[in-house]
Amino acid sequence: MFSHKKIEKNSILMLVLVLIVVSIGGLIEIAPLFYLESTIEKVKGMRPYSPLELAGRDIYIREGCYNCHSQMVRPLRDEAERYGHYSLAAESMYDHPFQWGSKRTGPDLARVGGRYSDEWHVTHMNNPRDVVPESVMPGYPFLGKTPLQIPHVAGNLETNRIVGVPYTDEMIANAERDLATQVNPDADDVDAFLERYPKAQVRDFDGNPAMLSELDALIAYLQMMGTLVDFTSYDVDANKR
Ligand code: HEC
Repeated sequence: MFSHKKIEKNSILMLVLVLIVVSIGGLIEIAPLFYLESTIEKVKGMRPYSPLELAGRDIYIREGCYNCHSQMVRPLRDEAERYGHYSLAAESMYDHPFQWGSKRTGPDLARVGGRYSDEWHVTHMNNPRDVVPESVMPGYPFLGKTPLQIPHVAGNLETNRIVGVPYTDEMIANAERDLATQVNPDADDVDAFLERYPKAQVRDFDGNPAMLSELDALIAYLQMMGTLVDFTSYDVDANKR
């Protein structure tokens, strides 16, 4: 009883003890989320990004596209009608950092893959007003003129593996080749590439086969967004692995 009186009379001591009690509670609640398998429900179709898609994602982050675009369709009727099925947690499980966002100067991009042709994206990224006259989006005409230069393709994958993305040794060993293969449908190892990255789209994305540009990577990324999980037959239970 006596010591409790002491605590109540000393605000600093009280504060320190309250913080200790609250952080024990917090740790018990939060820490298991980092190792429990069931935190994110596994969904069929999800795979790590291919090296080219990952490079495109890095350009997306570098250019600050997230300042105007979110990547999360909320489970609300108007959103689902406009963008498609609401986003599943599993769809961003390999995103480090994730791009959910809440600022929507432009539309949500979580399901933009396949909505437009590559040519549309090339024109739009060059000058959005050429396809959407009222657009306030800035143009990025330099992307198509800049060769994609990644000093450590394999290192990119390895770093993602450290934070939990299941890149295999085979994926890391082939990273550099896979980056080039994805823009060259005539390459010898397209089949092996597609086995590593099912549903990856293989073609020249920016309309200029002579150069692997930053625009190739960005469009490869945009065109795969939201396309991995098959929502025409999506059923929460059937999709559990
Ligand atoms: C200043 C805000 C802003 C920034 C920054 C921005 N956008 Fe946009 N974006 C918009 C607006 C507004 C639209 C809708 C009009 C249009 O289609 O241009 C849009 C539309 C789009 C669309 C078409 C979406 C659809 O469903 O019709 C894509 C794709 C896109 N942006 C990609 C990007 C990428 C990639 C970047 C970064 C390189 C980027 N945006 C940066 C504002 C922005």
